[in-house]
Amino acid sequence: MLPRVVILRWGHRHRDQRLTSHVALTARALGACGFVMADIADSKVKETIEKVTDCWGGNFYFEMGQPWKRVVKEWKANGGVTVHLTAYGENIQSSDVMKRIKASGKDVLVIVGSQKVPAGFFSEAISDFNVAVGNQPHSECSSLAVFLDRFFEGKELSEAVSPNAKKKIVPQARGKRVVEV
Ligand SMILES: C[S@@+](CC[C@H](N)C(=O)[O-])C[C@H]1O[C@@H](n2cnc3c(N)ncnc32)[C@H](O)[C@@H]1O
Repeated sequence: MLPRVVILRWGHRHRDQRLTSHVALTARALGACGFVMADIADSKVKETIEKVTDCWGGNFYFEMGQPWKRVVKEWKANGGVTVHLTAYGENIQSSDVMKRIKASGKDVLVIVGSQKVPAGFFSEAISDFNVAVGNQPHSECSSLAVFLDRFFEGKELSEAVSPNAKKKIVPQARGKRVVEV
């Protein structure tokens, strides 16, 4: 069985609603099983994600408001590893960091920031791995997408329909086709 991957989003601000929603939708579409928006509750984001999951299926869960330190502590206490995505980390392409993460065989909590993260995120106490999706700054959305795609080796993209879906997209070269499931 593949390890479970959950995303911890740190630093959400209400003005970031759209971006946080996109990070959660990326997580869901690329194989993660859950998303935690740390410290802050934002019902608009929750509503957006739950609507998508209700329509397109899957067992993706969305949680919010828990203090990030507690989420990390509980994850580690339950035997999981933590991966902090940061431009300053070990390069996902030119180092063996992904190999070491996979070799752990453990469930993975992926931590992504928004504005500058607290320095403590880089420490062993918080992050077992600091991973850079290239050492150029870009975004939580793009770094998460690349990380998940490499972690699941693209297999997550071939899932045609999720469990409990109400609708599914029928892929085609042109136009849009959606059918009830
Ligand atoms: C807009 S960036 C924050 C940049 C912030 N000024 C800093 O110095 O940390 C938001 C988040 O995107 C992710 N990110 C950005 N570039 C990345 C990269 N090259 N590799 C991995 N993660 C990255 C990190 O999780 C970061 O916290």
